Amino acid sequence: RGKRAFIAGVADDNGYGWAIAKSLAAAGAEILLGTWVPALNIFESSLRRGKFDESRVLPDGSLMEITKVYPLDAVFDNLEDVPEDIKANKRYAGSSKWTVQEVAESVKNDFGSIDILVHSLANGPEVTKPLLETSRNGYLAAISASSYSYVSLLKHFIPIMNPGGSSISLTYIASERIIPGYGGGMSSAKAALESDTRVLAFEAGRKHKVRVNAISAGPLRSRAAKAIGFIDMMIDYSIVNAPLQKELSADEVGNTAAFLASPLASAITGAVIYVDNGLNAMGVGV
Ligand code: NAI
Repeated sequence: RGKRAFIAGVADDNGYGWAIAKSLAAAGAEILLGTWVPALNIFESSLRRGKFDESRVLPDGSLMEITKVYPLDAVFDNLEDVPEDIKANKRYAGSSKWTVQEVAESVKNDFGSIDILVHSLANGPEVTKPLLETSRNGYLAAISASSYSYVSLLKHFIPIMNPGGSSISLTYIASERIIPGYGGGMSSAKAALESDTRVLAFEAGRKHKVRVNAISAGPLRSRAAKAIGFIDMMIDYSIVNAPLQKELSADEVGNTAAFLASPLASAITGAVIYVDNGLNAMGVGV
């Protein structure tokens, strides 16, 4: 049978999660999505109304099928974690079973198992603030939504991941080099995510024969990136300075994810793979 993938962090057709879903679908995988609760209604209605049909087209001309969309808020592990104001919030009260543990349970009940887990989400409420001006709450929120969310997802999904399975997250070079403007503790969150990629690769590999890798992606004009405010500058900078002087397409990241999820990558785990037109290798801009 084909492989089954759960991709957390898709709420429109502009981001890396959508492109990864398409590449996995093109390779024959069944697609399940986890969509942030506040974005769920608009995403599902846009899907239904055919707003994404053009971007659902796969290389063979068919349309990507999305088997099921689950509401998800990856900063909450289970119901006991959810504060009253969120429970009462109109957008959250309209859905149920969106904590990480409940989503994993629902996927288990609906499908039994998965082969591929993708974490394509991040959030840092103070991302536009320099680190020196970031509050403790802002910093911890960035880590919670962008780093621990991955530990939690893998922890809850790994019992239903088939041996030989593959898990992938998305990171950014601001974890290891100074990228002014990527603030609010987001650079710290990506550093944690990359370190966790190695430790999780060890634990998941030994215990479950599951591989764990991260893709360090170049700049893409996604919804999340536009909120940071410097994305056009980063894209221009890359086109001028990278070894490959072209705009990075989300599909190039999607295809790398499909490779990492496939048996072609059966000995790759604990790795951070750059998909950035080579920009990471430059020492100075020219
Ligand atoms: P995106 O906006 O398509 O994806 C981010 C998703 O995270 C959104 O769908 C949002 O609804 C979801 N989200 C936020 N908080 C959540 C929560 N608590 N629970 C569940 N979902 C939540 O943007 P993009 O840029 O494609 O981001 C995907 C990943 O790629 C992120 O990890 C990001 O840091 C990473 N990345 C993005 C780059 C870029 O230039 N766009 C560069 C390198 C890495």
